[in-house]
Amino acid sequence: MPRFPCVSGLMTLRNLLNQRLRTAMTAVGIDDTFAPHLAQSARPEFGDFQANGVLAAAKAAKTNPRELAQAVVNKLDLADIASSVEIAGPGFINIHLANGFLGRGLMALSTDNRLGVEKVDAPETVVVDYSSPNLAKAMHVGHLRSSIIGDAVVRVLEYRGDTVIRQNHMGDWGTQFGMLIAELEDQLVATKGAAAGATENPDIALADLEMFYQQAKAHFDADPDFATKARDYVVKLQSGDAHCRTLWQQFIDTSVAHSESIYQQLNVSLSHTDIRPESAYNDDLEPIANELIQQGLAGESDGALVAFLDELANKKGEPSPVIVRKSDGGYLYATTDLAALRYRDQQLKATRILYFIDARQALHMKQVFTLARKAGFVGDDISLEHHAFGTMMGPDGKPFKTRTGGTVKLADLLTEAVHRAEQLVSEKNPQLSSDERNDIARKVGIGAVKYADLSKTRTQDYIFNWDSMLSFEGNTAPYLQYAYTRIQSIFRKAGISGEDSSASIVITEEQEKKLALQLLGFSDTLEQVAREAYPHVLCTYLYDLASAFMSFYEHCPILKDHIDAPTRDSRLAMCKVTARTLSQGLDLLGIETMEAM
Ligand code: ARG
Repeated sequence: MPRFPCVSGLMTLRNLLNQRLRTAMTAVGIDDTFAPHLAQSARPEFGDFQANGVLAAAKAAKTNPRELAQAVVNKLDLADIASSVEIAGPGFINIHLANGFLGRGLMALSTDNRLGVEKVDAPETVVVDYSSPNLAKAMHVGHLRSSIIGDAVVRVLEYRGDTVIRQNHMGDWGTQFGMLIAELEDQLVATKGAAAGATENPDIALADLEMFYQQAKAHFDADPDFATKARDYVVKLQSGDAHCRTLWQQFIDTSVAHSESIYQQLNVSLSHTDIRPESAYNDDLEPIANELIQQGLAGESDGALVAFLDELANKKGEPSPVIVRKSDGGYLYATTDLAALRYRDQQLKATRILYFIDARQALHMKQVFTLARKAGFVGDDISLEHHAFGTMMGPDGKPFKTRTGGTVKLADLLTEAVHRAEQLVSEKNPQLSSDERNDIARKVGIGAVKYADLSKTRTQDYIFNWDSMLSFEGNTAPYLQYAYTRIQSIFRKAGISGEDSSASIVITEEQEKKLALQLLGFSDTLEQVAREAYPHVLCTYLYDLASAFMSFYEHCPILKDHIDAPTRDSRLAMCKVTARTLSQGLDLLGIETMEAM
């Protein structure tokens, strides 16, 4: 069988075209500071791909761009790949790919269990800091974005062969915990008193972490003795007092278990061993501070230890202050992050560190990165990346809240999503057994919430809307899951499985060509997501794929009587690659598929 170079261990479609263009450009004397600038064309009259890099080269050489483009095309070897190449406009090179080439490429995909996605040649060690909730409270909607965006990128990186080290930098330390353990102690004593001999069971007191926090806060505000005790407990906790430690550990264990149940519901791949909370760096904080002093990077200011960064000075030229240690001796969020950076570089040997944190922490991240580099806590060649995201908004365009203005607990949001999906699924398909219905509702409901978020450009705020995310039309999880089940029902009708096929794929129709081109772009898409950490790029890809499939399905009959066997098998093979790509792509987003819905 002829093998398509993009899956024979050589390169993706885009890389292949880029390389051929580069060779032709070199042959006419264009040096490699000029890239071919290849892009997939939006309209078929511009070919399937368009390269416009010659324009810049012609400008620099002060020659006629169309003539230079012609010279490149004369040298361009796309035999067997393109059906025609033409020059358009001021010197664009339009490439129309040959159906035979696409058919061969697709056949190679159809027998490749990695769908043309090569493992990277030089795997990176990528530390990904994501989710990282504060354990003082229940997880709320503010934790959704980091958890699912981070997880999608983690899955893509791993799939491409990078070594990924997940780091759940949970907030388990700080003044709040004094108040919380004092409250826990109170409530445990109270239950003990109420039922003599009752075991100290923190699970009862902490059944609702949000409520518990409110109780502790109210207690703290109303009762000065309690407040004093709470402050005292902070100090005791930090100095290792056994009683306070025990209470703290009980609280932390319950809160961690709560987060883990959310991860499970959300299909987020974080596990217990990925947790390296703030407290893990306690012993590193003093040495970090001392080292900053020794290097002359931090000094005393109003009793606190502060580093002033000229690199991040404001418009007036005032340096940006980073408080390393407060005047009461306490360490801060930034200090812990410096320690974490050093650990990730020196112990985990990261070559890239990715942070998925709210855009409102942009300055904090800049400060920490800058200071860590200056102090040599990380090497020069490590890539430090804050991948920021916007806020999830309610229908009123303000940050998403409950009707009474409280924070929305993530657990409640997910329960509602599944509930709404269940109603929808029952309406659509009343014949389902209750087990089937529950399973589908869970996958659709959770998938819808995740996809609605992942499909938006992460740097922007977005409006949370139940109706649009659960719609079976448009760029939604249910639409993609439905497209997948459509294909499964074709296989059932044809009496075949969706496994690999070895049928010849022959492309004749325009819709077949479009579908093939889309399928062959999977690897390029994942490469982009791995580089830029924007999962919406994969969502858009999958949506375009499902749409290309739907129009293929409409225009190209598969199981009709008048369709000859080779055409039928060719089209079924295209269905198989499509179904596998959809389910693999959704899986990389952490979204499940089902056989029917
Ligand atoms: N716990 C922090 C918060 O809830 C997020 C931590 C992000 N990670 C980090 N290394 N700073 O805001």
